Amino acid sequence: MKDMETLSVAIACDHAGYEMKEELKRVFESRLFSLKDFGTYSTDSMDYPDTIHPMASAINKGQFDFGIAICGTGNGVSMTANKYPNVRAALCWKDEIAKLARQHNDANILSMPARFISQAEAEQMLETFLTTDFEGGRHIQRVDKISKLQ
Ligand code: RB5
Repeated sequence: MKDMETLSVAIACDHAGYEMKEELKRVFESRLFSLKDFGTYSTDSMDYPDTIHPMASAINKGQFDFGIAICGTGNGVSMTANKYPNVRAALCWKDEIAKLARQHNDANILSMPARFISQAEAEQMLETFLTTDFEGGRHIQRVDKISKLQ
């Protein structure tokens, strides 16, 4: 079980995820060591790679423990973030999936679909994601193989 107070976390979204991002910041910012907001900063229409690339690049370099990526479906932000070799962005829409993304996949970015989940579901998933440890064991070699392109 991780102690949230020690975690450096990054968050980024597009216009569809803006309101969920702001509410997650309000609830979690004081409970974390740090929470860096990579934007977007309004509901004006924008292209999700413009905020997700900078955040995913920072996660890739080990500058944060975890990232949070939010768009309408969660797919665009996941596809963008997963271009980076040290990023494992998991698209989650249920608490159990967020838990397994940490336990089995050692995910380091939680991607969420703002148009298909409630704020309460997002908060519960984030709490689970940030406090659940990777199980290791048989999952280590599987996770290691993810970045071995053929
Ligand atoms: C924006 O309308 C929407 O396409 C975007 O938020 C996301 O769902 C893309 O994957």
